Amino acid sequence: MSDFEQKVRETLANPQNQGEMEDADSVGTVGSPDCGDMLRMWLKFTEKDGKKVIDKASFQSFGCQTAIAVASMATEMLKGKTMEEAKALNAEELSGDLGALPPMKIHCGQLVEGALQSALNPEEEKAVAEETSTVPTLIQSIQASSGKPAGSIKIIKLEDDTE
Ligand code: FES
Repeated sequence: MSDFEQKVRETLANPQNQGEMEDADSVGTVGSPDCGDMLRMWLKFTEKDGKKVIDKASFQSFGCQTAIAVASMATEMLKGKTMEEAKALNAEELSGDLGALPPMKIHCGQLVEGALQSALNPEEEKAVAEETSTVPTLIQSIQASSGKPAGSIKIIKLEDDTE
């Protein structure tokens, strides 16, 4: 077993912050029709030293184990981060101790990044989605990493059906 698989297995033995957050301030959901997986992230904010910071984050994944492991790492890492700090995190950083994701699993980390960005920018995402019907940064990065031609992969923004 590779080092990466071992770390994923360890993380999945005790995943952190899994499940719906009842009192969340924001929620973001993305789905990848390419693999059929979907990830939703909830964020709760608080004030610290006059700044808005993430108090806690949780997730639900209807997807692969790698996405769950990355989301577990990411939701722990997000605690105490300002909006700007959280927005600047990419999929690789969010993977934390898991290290670099294998090529076939890069989009799993990007699913987590997409859900986070969606939760951080609910209005912007909506505006972009209305304008272009896609979420460009995520889809572009997935296309770039997959080597597939543009148009063969779609990321869809899923409606929040929890309300
Ligand atoms: Fe698609 Fe992991 S295989 S998110």
